Amino acid sequence: MLIQFLTLFPEMFTGPFSCSMIKRAQERGVVTLETIDFRAYAEDRHRTVDDTPYGGGPGMILKPEPIFKAVEAITAKASTKPYIILTTPQGEPFRQQIAVELSKMPHLIFICGHYEGFDERIRTLADRELSIGDYVLTGGELPAMVMADAVIRLLPGVLGDPQSAAQDSFSRGLLDYPQYTKPAEFRGMAVPAVLLSGDHGKIEAWRRQQALLRTARRRPELLAGIELSPSEREFLEEHQLLNPEKQDLPMKGGNEIESD
Ligand code: ADE
Repeated sequence: MLIQFLTLFPEMFTGPFSCSMIKRAQERGVVTLETIDFRAYAEDRHRTVDDTPYGGGPGMILKPEPIFKAVEAITAKASTKPYIILTTPQGEPFRQQIAVELSKMPHLIFICGHYEGFDERIRTLADRELSIGDYVLTGGELPAMVMADAVIRLLPGVLGDPQSAAQDSFSRGLLDYPQYTKPAEFRGMAVPAVLLSGDHGKIEAWRRQQALLRTARRRPELLAGIELSPSEREFLEEHQLLNPEKQDLPMKGGNEIESD
């Protein structure tokens, strides 16, 4: 997979892409990451990439010409049509399912906005506009890196254990169940006995129940996308967690694990 980032700040990408899994993915040839400074495509001798907004108002707006020229130069060289993403707080909220879809594309381009906004005509270049949340960052570089990270870890050969991605929070539509490692008791906090039992059937059932409980308590809206078995419905009803509008949902800071 080839991922290219059109940015005015290529140096922002150096740290995150030179460590850990993303570094390994590049070394193994699973993904090629390239930053392209679109200032290089500016037409005037001052290499101007932004200008004041028509109609007045604060701040500077990214001009269309350098970004159009950069995209045209890249697509002219590409063997397959790249899928172009514009990072913007006005985009569709990014989520795991979108990461899965993007991981199947051979070539992605992220256009990273910066300054106060971009000329509306730049939108016509994008196949998709994506946001990483309802808050405004100084530019689209961090969002592009967040999304690329979520995509790259799904590529075959990146995670040590291919099961890991399938077991992720959200892949099954639920939050993760609680996990423990040694020691079995730490400062008075014991690992739930079922996990030490060696009974894999029981462990799997407990994990599913814990994932359901945690999701119902923390993110009840996610349950709408899950097919619950009759016994799972009953289990959540017993805990009065099935109709979120009817109960109050305390977000406890501490350990919320139930013994059942
Ligand atoms: N650019 C600035 N803020 C952003 C956000 N929340 N998501 C995507 N792009 C952005």
